[in-house]
Amino acid sequence: MQISENVKYVGCDDHEIDLFEGQFDVPNGMAYNSYVIIDDKIAVMDTMDANFCSEWMQNLQDELAGHTPDYLVVHHMEPDHSSGIALFAEAYPDATIVASKAAFNMMKNFFGRDFANTLVVKEGDTLQLGSHTLQFVAAPNVHWPEVMMSYEASEKILFSADGFGKFGANDIEEDWACEARRYYFGIVGKFGTNVQKVLAKAAELDISTICPLHGPVLHDNLSYYIGLYNTWSSYEAETEGVCIAYTSVYGHTREAALMLNDELEALGCNHVEIFDLARDDMAEAMEGAFRHSKIVLATTTYNNSIFPFMHDFIDRLVEHKFQNRSVALIENGTWGPAAAKVMTTMLEPCDNLEFAGKITIKSALTEQNISEIKELAKTLVK
Ligand code: FEO
Repeated sequence: MQISENVKYVGCDDHEIDLFEGQFDVPNGMAYNSYVIIDDKIAVMDTMDANFCSEWMQNLQDELAGHTPDYLVVHHMEPDHSSGIALFAEAYPDATIVASKAAFNMMKNFFGRDFANTLVVKEGDTLQLGSHTLQFVAAPNVHWPEVMMSYEASEKILFSADGFGKFGANDIEEDWACEARRYYFGIVGKFGTNVQKVLAKAAELDISTICPLHGPVLHDNLSYYIGLYNTWSSYEAETEGVCIAYTSVYGHTREAALMLNDELEALGCNHVEIFDLARDDMAEAMEGAFRHSKIVLATTTYNNSIFPFMHDFIDRLVEHKFQNRSVALIENGTWGPAAAKVMTTMLEPCDNLEFAGKITIKSALTEQNISEIKELAKTLVK
C-alpha cells in the first residue's frame, strides 16, 4: 500500500486476537503498522507482532521488489512491533539496526543476543537516506522508556510510534476518536506529562502526515487529532458531562445509578455515560471517566471495603493519574455503610478532585434517597 511514491505501508491486520496486551478487548481486531522508505538507501520502519511476521516479510519483499534494505529503524521494543527483528536480521544480514540505546538493551533481553550491525541514535540525530532524511525525536514513556519517533522533512511525515494509535484493524472503518481514546487512556494515559513534551516538540515540526504503529495513517485535519491528544495528555475533560460507574449486588445501587442517569437526562444533560463495572468493558469505563468533566462512583460496602470491581476501577483511575474532575459518591451498606470513606481514601492520590456530594443508602432506596438523587442531579448539571 502506498503512503506516497517512496513511502509504503507493509503492516498487517490481526483479526485473530482476542485480548490486546493480554487485557484489552478488541472486537474489531488490531493493526500492526510497519513502513518502508525507498530512496538511495532503504529504511524499514519497525517490524511486527510474532503471529504476523511471515505476512509482514511477504509484504516487505513485495514492496522491495528485489532490493535489499539498508536500515531497520526500531522506534519501540514492545513485542507487537519488535518480534520480527531477528527474522529481519537473518534475512538481511548487511542491514543496520537503528534504535535508541535503551531499545538495544531491551533487544538483548528479548532475543538473548546482540546484533551485528547497529547504530545508536538519540534526540536530534539524523539518518540520511538520499532525498529523505530521518530526524529522531526522543519520546520516552510514550509508551515505553526506549521509544523514539522520527520525522522525515521532505515529505513532512511524523512516524509517531504508539502515539496517535488506536484499537481496531485498518480494514474496518470506524470512528477514530472512540477507539483511539480507549487505547490512549488504557495504555498511554499514565504518561500525560511525557506526551505533552513530545507534543511541544511536534509543534516545532511542519507535519502533514502521521504514520503511527497502530490504526490509520492520518493525513487530513491533523489539528483535530493533535488537539485531542493535547486535551487527553493534559488530563482536562474533553466533554462537559457525567460518567456514572457503579457496581450492584442485589440491584438497589443499580437502581440509584439508573435513577440518577434519568434525572440528569431529564435536566438536559446530553452527555451521560453509565457503566456496570461488573459487566461492561473496564477500558470503556476508564475512557468514560477520563472523557467527562464529572464522575459518580456508586458501590456497596463489601468485606469491610468496597465491591471488587469498583476497587479495581478506582485503582486503575489512580494509577492512570485521574485528576481535575468533580466526583460524587453513592454508597450502600445494610448495617455499616463505609464505601464512601473507602473510596475517598483510595482517591486521595488524585490531584484536584472536587467532591460534589455523597448519598448513603442503607439497603433499598428510601424517599429521602430519591430526593437526594434528584438534588445530586441538579448539582451535577449546574
Ligand atoms: Fe503498540 Fe506499546 O506497543
